[in-house]
Amino acid sequence: MAGRLADRRAVITGSAAGIGRAIAEAYLREGAKVMIADIDGRAAERTAGELAAMGAISAMACDVTSLEQTRALAAEAGKRLGGVNVLVNNAGLSGRGLITEIPEERIDALLAVNLKGVLLCAQAFA
Ligand SMILES: NC(=O)c1ccc[n+]([C@@H]2O[C@H](COP(=O)([O-])OP(=O)(O)OC[C@H]3O[C@@H](n4cnc5c(N)ncnc54)[C@H](O)[C@@H]3O)[C@@H](O)[C@H]2O)c1
Repeated sequence: MAGRLADRRAVITGSAAGIGRAIAEAYLREGAKVMIADIDGRAAERTAGELAAMGAISAMACDVTSLEQTRALAAEAGKRLGGVNVLVNNAGLSGRGLITEIPEERIDALLAVNLKGVLLCAQAFA
């Protein structure tokens, strides 16, 4: 029986590890074609290698805070997957600690990845 996501061609950001990797595994298990993207390109390649037995998966380095890199990811994913019909905007940082103690640089980084990154990816893939 075909998987529930057999017609899906999905790009998952921040998926070299953690929740993104688990999402990639779930998509593969259900028959989707998957491309994982992560700021850590080496880790993304390693993860793709580890999951290759599960189905069609490839990897690419991408910093979601970069307009240029998100556009390049969308273009490459379109070629590799024959079009993309799922974008999982998973890449994100967390603000662990007390709100009163988060340094300004961390606030900038949180907004860059969790807000700008989501919008840039949505723009690039739309
Ligand atoms: N873990 C939790 O309890 C939890 C709870 C709520 C929401 N979330 C959210 O779920 C998502 C995944 O969480 P996680 O715990 O797996 O995080 P994680 O830190 O384990 O993994 C995040 C991945 O994103 C990548 N990444 C970081 N910055 C990036 C960038 N600029 N461009 C591309 N990739 C980048 C990292 O290299 C890493 O592989 C995040 O958006 C997080 O905020 C997590």
